[in-house]
Amino acid sequence: MKIKINENFKNIKENYLFSDINKRVKAYKSTHPDADIIRLGIGDVTLPLPKIVVDEMAKASIEMGAKETFKGYPPEYGYDFLREMVVDYYKRNKVTLDLEDVFISDGAKSDIGNIVDILGDNDIYIPNPVYPVYVDSNLMSGRKVYYIEGNEKNKFLPMPDGLDCKPKVIYLCSPNNPTGATYSYDELVKWVEYAYESGSLIIFDSAYEAFITDGSPRSIYQIPMAKHVAIEISSLSKMAGFTGIRCGFTIIPKELTVGDTSINALWKRRCATKFNGVSYPVQRAAYVALSPEGVEESKKNLAIYKKNTEMLCELFDKKGIWYSGGKNSPYIWMRCPNGMKSFEFFDYLLDKANIVGTPGVGFGECGEGYFRLTSFASNEDTKKAVERLNKLL
Ligand code: MLT
Repeated sequence: MKIKINENFKNIKENYLFSDINKRVKAYKSTHPDADIIRLGIGDVTLPLPKIVVDEMAKASIEMGAKETFKGYPPEYGYDFLREMVVDYYKRNKVTLDLEDVFISDGAKSDIGNIVDILGDNDIYIPNPVYPVYVDSNLMSGRKVYYIEGNEKNKFLPMPDGLDCKPKVIYLCSPNNPTGATYSYDELVKWVEYAYESGSLIIFDSAYEAFITDGSPRSIYQIPMAKHVAIEISSLSKMAGFTGIRCGFTIIPKELTVGDTSINALWKRRCATKFNGVSYPVQRAAYVALSPEGVEESKKNLAIYKKNTEMLCELFDKKGIWYSGGKNSPYIWMRCPNGMKSFEFFDYLLDKANIVGTPGVGFGECGEGYFRLTSFASNEDTKKAVERLNKLL
């Protein structure tokens, strides 16, 4: 062929981080077929969906098989019943949204990747280490990415101090993936004030908000003026176990404008052209999952994951190993022992303890020497992993 391809793809790594990890584990498994591998790598949930969610999805599927209740294309922005429930969910967290601010998606990852469609050639500022989708999606579209360094000194919570006052697009994730670190109210105030003063946009990923237990903000909109500077992208994946169902939501308040242009209107236009919505049974499932009753049900699963983080944190506290996260997050971000590099520790752990984690450097250069463990395995497997780690570290 003689067509031109998107040359920007040459600027990203050949494999997506988690595909690369899977490849390495598969290779290990082929030479060690009897290894009892415990997976604390990718942040994928393992507990089944709450019964009320499954019942609702089944009921909605049956409706699709009857002439009177069959539904064709869903609305591009989501059914109003679900958008209203999202508004109600935020209200329970003391945030007032308008129905028109809410867009239903097939998960946070898609919208994080797609949001670049409506933005021009801005300078992109991304904390490092970070969820690879922010960086890759901007590099794929030829944007210039600058990193804001996360380190032990700033507790992997970089702040705007030292940034120039030019307008930029800033990605923030709190509780953070991969470090589990969570911005406090005062820290987010500083980010919102910085964005307001510099004319910048914050893209705030709140996919892990349901794990917050210490009163830290669960939405950027808890901060005054945030509706003028921030888009929030969230997901039911981790809070309600929807990784295999696919549903999330993006909030674009009408207050977000560039001159006379409404960002909300641009996103509406983009969705109408490129998205045919999320299936009806999934939206019904999401509706129930976000209802007060559904949230209570999901909390039972979150408590099981939380027990896992507690077991791991207890071990690292006992061993004096530095880590962040674990408290408001399903992730624990640990310093690799004995000055090991991230991939060195990955191989060591896989070989000596048959435990899979995620090398910190896979989330960016500032993650070198660190390692991420998740709490999404069963309590039994995590207990086994803790026993193996106790012997090894
Ligand atoms: C992770 O392990 O970082 C997550 O599973 C990524 C995701 O949510 O897409």
